[in-house]
Amino acid sequence: MAADSPPLPPSRSEGGDFDLGVDADITRARTPPPELYTSAEVFARVRSRVFTPAWHMVPSLAGRETGEALPFELLPGVLDAPLVLVRGTDGVVRCLSNVCTHRANLVVEGPGCHKALRCRYHGRRFSLDGRFAFMPEFEGAEGFPSEDDSLVSLPLTSLGPISLASLGPRVAAADLLRPIQERLAFAPWDRLERKGERVYDVPANWALYVENYLEGFHVPFVHPGLAGALDYASYRTELFDWSNLQVGVARKGEACFSLPAGHPDQGQSIAAYYFFLFPCTMVNVYPWGVSMNAVEPAAIDRTRVRFVSWVWDESRIGEGAGADLDAVELEDEAVVASVQRGVRSPLYKGGRYSPARERGVHHFHRLLALALYG
Ligand code: FES
Ligand SMILES: [Fe+2]
Repeated sequence: MAADSPPLPPSRSEGGDFDLGVDADITRARTPPPELYTSAEVFARVRSRVFTPAWHMVPSLAGRETGEALPFELLPGVLDAPLVLVRGTDGVVRCLSNVCTHRANLVVEGPGCHKALRCRYHGRRFSLDGRFAFMPEFEGAEGFPSEDDSLVSLPLTSLGPISLASLGPRVAAADLLRPIQERLAFAPWDRLERKGERVYDVPANWALYVENYLEGFHVPFVHPGLAGALDYASYRTELFDWSNLQVGVARKGEACFSLPAGHPDQGQSIAAYYFFLFPCTMVNVYPWGVSMNAVEPAAIDRTRVRFVSWVWDESRIGEGAGADLDAVELEDEAVVASVQRGVRSPLYKGGRYSPARERGVHHFHRLLALALYG
């Protein structure tokens, strides 16, 4: 459902002075106060109310066999949740807590293939779907085993071979992903092959990185190369309930999608679809494939951004708006790091939005206000 103004209640303060106070009307609204990026209390709230219930891009077990397990940690430094992806005997991939339900040892210590998951501390065993299977020396323990003795299984969803998991989602996966699935139903998601991953350390608060992503306003100023591929006048933003989309239209002669008959953008030369899934996932879709960005706070003023690329048409890599993502990223990082220095200034009090060019940023701030204080 595309809408000019998503139906959000106004933000309000909850037992504190701080309130994002972002007016629903962009023509009147002021951007959030700098405490959003600098206050430890706000950051603690972001952790519990924004990132704990978020959907996060997780590693993929696509193509891996029964019993394959891949441990990883979700948002080290902020969520610190050891998880493990496991393909069960039924062929289903699950995302499980990798913390033993006895005394919290990590169960799976490295990638590998298993018949069962066994904790090496005191020998507790779980089946590949995470269910408690066996524990020595527990005769006489009342009410044991119970549901609580199995490994927690997280909601997991997918876009083709790309997986997203959540510790306890605020938004249903179907609602979050629907705008992508509808707009890009024609794309060969099942043909995607994972190409590579790059991790960037950005010396700035995570929200500054997201804001920068959400507007094409800076493209002519910050990205000379990208500006040559995109038609700035046609660049536009569409808002959905918990996501938004920037449509990059190609300049004449630049690479674009071949859209099927009846597609809403048929007749236009679309160079890129930039989807943002609140709060921390970017799905950038190009004629060659998909570049996923996971924005992960590492600390209040440090952000790790993981770029994972998935390709469906190798022959088109290097064309158009998705050609040199590394150069564009470094240009973005430099400006975001500069903004981080600016928001620390006692003289900065927040600003105003361009109604024409910053609807995505305003939408993000409204969603953030709702998640933090709604
Ligand atoms: S902590 Fe795993 S069996 Fe004791
Ligand atoms: Fe940029």
